[in-house]
Amino acid sequence: MRFHVLTLFPQAFQSPIEHGRLGRASSRELLSIQITDIRAYTHDRHSSADDYQFGGGSGMVLKPEPIFEAAEDVLSGYTEDLRSQIPIILLSPQGQVLNQEMARELANYPALVLICGHYAGVDERVRQNLAAREISIGDYVLTGGELAALVLMDVVARFAPGVVGSSDNVEGDSITSGLLQHPLYTRPAEYRGMEVPEILRSGHHGEIDLWRRRQALSRTLALRPDLLARADLSNSDLDYLQSLGYEPERDLAEDGG
Ligand code: ADE
Repeated sequence: MRFHVLTLFPQAFQSPIEHGRLGRASSRELLSIQITDIRAYTHDRHSSADDYQFGGGSGMVLKPEPIFEAAEDVLSGYTEDLRSQIPIILLSPQGQVLNQEMARELANYPALVLICGHYAGVDERVRQNLAAREISIGDYVLTGGELAALVLMDVVARFAPGVVGSSDNVEGDSITSGLLQHPLYTRPAEYRGMEVPEILRSGHHGEIDLWRRRQALSRTLALRPDLLARADLSNSDLDYLQSLGYEPERDLAEDGG
C-alpha cells in the first residue's frame, strides 16, 4: 500500500510517521508514505500556493496549478495502467464521511493520492477535474486536511496485510464486525475491590465467547443502537437483544432509518 500526500505542511507528518505504528509499518516496507510539498510546484518568486477569491470574500483559496502539477508528478512514477487505478482524494469537510467500510475498500487500491486542503478551501477545478473523490473524517472543520490525511492513512493501513498483528484483529475489530467491542480486562484480577468477571477466568472458552458476544450486543444496544441495523446478527443474537428490549422496527424508525 502506498500513500502519496500532497500538502503545504510536510512537517505535520514527521512525528506521526517517524514514531507511530504507521512509521513502523513503513520501515518494515509494508507500506510507504511519500510526502510532497505543494509549494515546490509554485512558479512565482513568493512561492504562492494560495490567492484571493474571485468574486470577493474572506479567506484565501488554494491555487489549482501547484496541486495539478504535484499530483501529475507523483503519478508519473507509475505505469499508465497503474496510474488509471490510483484514486486522487481530496480531504475536505464536504466529502463523504470516512468509516470502516470505506477504509477497507480504499485498502484495495495499489496507492492513494491524498490532497490536503487549507485556508478557505481549494479551487473548484481541483474538486471537479482532478480529485476523483472527496472524503471528510467527520462533521467538523479542521484547520487543514493534514490531520484528516493521517487519520485516513492510519485507518486504511490497518487493512494492509501485516500492519496489524494478525488480520483477525482487524476483522474482529469493534465496528468492522458491526458491533462495539466487548469489555477487556488484564491483570490484576482484583484492583481496589474491582474484580474481573469470574467467567473470564473460568477457562470455559465457549462460555467466554458467548459472554463476550452478549456484552458486545448489549453495549451496542445501549451506546450505538444505529449500528444494529447493519450488523450481522444471528437468531440467537436477536433473541438476546429482544430480551433486553430491542425492537428492530421501532428502534430503526427512531433512528430515522
Ligand atoms: N479539512 C477540514 N476539515 C476536514 C474534515 N472534517 N475532514 C477532512 N478534511 C478536512
